[in-house]
Amino acid sequence: MSTVQDALQALTDLTPGRQQILADAVAGLSHASRQLPSKYFYDARGSRLFEQITHTREYYPTRTELALLDRVLPQIAQAVGPRVHVVELGSGSGRKTARLLAALQDPVAYTPIEISRAALLSSIDHLAPALPDVEMLPVCADFTRPVQVPVPDRPAARRLLFFPGSTLGNFADEDAIALLRAMRQTMGKDGLALVGIDLHKDPALIEAAYNDADGITAAFTLNLLARLNREVGSDFDLDGFRHQARYSTARLRIETDLVSQREQDVHLDGRTFHFSAGEPIRVEYSHKYTDASFGHLLQQAGLEVVAHWNADHPAYGLRLLRPAP
Ligand code: AVI
Repeated sequence: MSTVQDALQALTDLTPGRQQILADAVAGLSHASRQLPSKYFYDARGSRLFEQITHTREYYPTRTELALLDRVLPQIAQAVGPRVHVVELGSGSGRKTARLLAALQDPVAYTPIEISRAALLSSIDHLAPALPDVEMLPVCADFTRPVQVPVPDRPAARRLLFFPGSTLGNFADEDAIALLRAMRQTMGKDGLALVGIDLHKDPALIEAAYNDADGITAAFTLNLLARLNREVGSDFDLDGFRHQARYSTARLRIETDLVSQREQDVHLDGRTFHFSAGEPIRVEYSHKYTDASFGHLLQQAGLEVVAHWNADHPAYGLRLLRPAP
């Protein structure tokens, strides 16, 4: 029996510190084409705003994936087998996890790896009481870096990595390949990974999802600058930058920028960053895959598809993966 208190005691806290965020921000802003890592969107407010995005009319991926999961979970449980240790990359709200854990046969343990301590604790808070037989072993960390997965008390038959939400799409291809390679290592030779991927479709539908009419996505993106101001002492003028998200049909991805509204200086760590009017900071990619583009990533990472399930309208996919021989 695992309680919320047990889970808190077991918490491994590797939240990136001020120095790490500062170093990443200085490096990104010093680039000829300026950039900031989208992983820093998810402080407590950013995580709340993302949760709100998932409920907007325009943002289809979350509800499409949830409906697809509901439809195919019995097939997933069958393919995965009993007594797995579920390791989730980025726990998010845990809505999808609750469904997955409930459908699996006698799951042994659950390890969410999540950069936002607040989101991590809230997901465990929700899940632990409903799943008293599943050992909760949360890890507060950046899952793009190697993570030591805690070993459950009860032996697991295999690890099942769970990476829903098309979060893979937030990585540039070379980083996605590196992450998939790391996942291959973490899952072990008998392990599996269940990955959600948003699929290429009508660009108008995709663009609308990243430009909701209520401006929640814009607030989410701009929150990155508010976070940097608060945590590393920059002086971004939040009214001086505008959210812009466009779909590139050539690169099959949403490219999100914060665009400087005028010529201005931003100060950080004793440095001055000069922005011209209209100059963008690239803050996020959201790749939308085809079978060919996803297959290319898998091949580079040494993974193969065991089973796949698609939703048709809007198009969205779940892929069960294993290490290629
Ligand atoms: C978390 N990730 C998959 C979201 C996405 O669709 O790329 C983040 C997001 N950014 C803007 N809206 C949602």
